[in-house]
Amino acid sequence: QKIVLAYSGGLDTSVIVKWLQETYDYEVVTFTADIGQGEEVEPARAKAEALGVKEIFIEDLREEFAKDYVFPMFRANAIYEGEYLLGTSIARPLIAKRMVEIAAKVGAGAISHGATGKGNDQVRFELGAYALMPGLKVVAPWREWDLNSRELLMQYCAEHNIPVEMKRGKKSPYSMDANLLHISYEGGNLEDPWWEPEEDIWRWSVSPEEAPNAPTYVTLSYEKGDVIAIDGEACSAATVMERLNELGGANGIGRLDIVENRYVGMKSRGCYETPAGTIMLKAHRAIESLTLDREAAHLKDELMPRYAKLIYNGYWWSPEREALQAAIDSTQQYVNGEVRLKLYKGSVSVVGRRSEQSLFDEKIATFEADEGAYDQKDAEGFIKLNALRLKISAAKGRSHS
Ligand code: ARG
Ligand code: SIN
Repeated sequence: QKIVLAYSGGLDTSVIVKWLQETYDYEVVTFTADIGQGEEVEPARAKAEALGVKEIFIEDLREEFAKDYVFPMFRANAIYEGEYLLGTSIARPLIAKRMVEIAAKVGAGAISHGATGKGNDQVRFELGAYALMPGLKVVAPWREWDLNSRELLMQYCAEHNIPVEMKRGKKSPYSMDANLLHISYEGGNLEDPWWEPEEDIWRWSVSPEEAPNAPTYVTLSYEKGDVIAIDGEACSAATVMERLNELGGANGIGRLDIVENRYVGMKSRGCYETPAGTIMLKAHRAIESLTLDREAAHLKDELMPRYAKLIYNGYWWSPEREALQAAIDSTQQYVNGEVRLKLYKGSVSVVGRRSEQSLFDEKIATFEADEGAYDQKDAEGFIKLNALRLKISAAKGRSHS
């Protein structure tokens, strides 16, 4: 029988190919996607072939990832626990979907992945896969085998003739994950939450201290809550991410060092670089500040933590995410216009915003004479009625500590 494996071409997933063949006699079908991790995906073909894989899928999913996953999430201004921009979380539903589609295509009844039994990723892959193909079987080798150390893994390679140059190019002591939205680092020295990562851990950004002394200005154009152009030049979703990652990285923007709560119950320390995402979050809030009705905006802000949590926990393919997404998307029809930003030594500042659909009205807001658009006398009654219950409470002797 066949099994579809999410295959990176790295050492761990190469061992998984062999292990699935040997332990369960599976015919392994590999799936490798370019989602902007910045590593060539084509080399995975020869590696899979060398392991005896006959059906190999290698796909460029960068546009789909940016357009159908990252952008919808940014319409919500999603952040988990006040900090994390969900870079890994948002990629898993797409991988799950493609695995399931490939399984259907090749007639495989099972899928496999290289996530451990201690993390979020296993949950995200598997919830997604079950939601899209309920009868599917999942094999998670990390939960079954006892190759828990680097040494045992290398020994397995030696015993099974897996070439060790399967190892990734640059050796890193960290567990990393990268795509168009971020690069993440976990494990190693980072397991001590007091330990400050050395400068050379960071791969996408210069340190704010080393960033240029002159600011970089950039203008983003929005249509229905999505960025459609940079400095007036129309860009595809993936291109927006790539350009802003470069601009942000060059200005030291988007570094994050946090301890977060994993869905499986433990706390985990992670470092992240999210240059484009950090810029886009700030800019999207700025264009919404002009174009969204106050109560619609505040409602979005109340829903946001729920939406972020369900993406973190792996419920992209769920009725509640779809319901929230529909609500969020419905608020975005007038979120059009431009935001001008200043990038400087690790910070993103909004310096201008404009929109044809702006609700900002200078005639009403002005401190100068406003020609009857707003009658200041109305404010007296507005305040008095709002004060009524406060007055009653005070009059009945309720005091404030
Ligand atoms: N802690 C982050 C998350 O749960 C990043 C996980 C990184 N995954 C990895 N396979 N290295 O979203
Ligand atoms: C893993 O455990 O495979 C990576 C970390 C995570 O999924 O949270």
